[in-house]
Amino acid sequence: MQTIGVLISGRGSNLQALIDAQQRGELGGGRIAVVFSNVEAAAGLERARRAGIPVAFRDHRGLAREAFDGEVAEILKAHGVELVCLAGYMRLLSPVLLRAFPGRILNVHPALLPAFPGVKAQRQALERGVKVSGATVHLVDENLDAGPIVAQEAVHVLSSDTEDSLAARILEAEHRIYPRAVRALLEGRLTIAGRRVLVEGE
Ligand code: GRF
Repeated sequence: MQTIGVLISGRGSNLQALIDAQQRGELGGGRIAVVFSNVEAAAGLERARRAGIPVAFRDHRGLAREAFDGEVAEILKAHGVELVCLAGYMRLLSPVLLRAFPGRILNVHPALLPAFPGVKAQRQALERGVKVSGATVHLVDENLDAGPIVAQEAVHVLSSDTEDSLAARILEAEHRIYPRAVRALLEGRLTIAGRRVLVEGE
């Protein structure tokens, strides 16, 4: 398995981290074959174009979740995608997409799951007063931000932190662990035992 599809909705800095890792030869032989966005103006699409990666866009508005996901799955399959990386993709996945890529969808989340799932995870962390938050890469299942955890990195919360400053430091951690998790998966170094993912060599 080597062919990757990245799904985005916005800025695409995690996409950029994956592109950079691929260009450095640090993505376990993985190749990003297509970047898909449900938002036409997503800045990440420009990052993909600059890197010479084909892009695809479909507007989700007005379509049932399953119908939209069916189209997304078709686009990904047409590009030969075997591994799907969600990178700031602001859509819940229906079973249609999950079934098309069983155990083959990764997501990155800006908190140490299972703490603070869902949106505005950095704000949740600040409001709850935790001293440590961080970044998580996990396999995607039918529950929101709940699939088996592949990689995490902790980030200290400072008393001077705002949502933006915390998000910026967590993002740096995301950019480190996401390519590493993709590489481990593509190199066949993951063993999944229930909720536990054992990563060979880590
Ligand atoms: C990241 O914080 C990611 O964890 C979350 O959405 C943000 C996307 O940022 N799911 P970017 O588009 O990769 O820059």
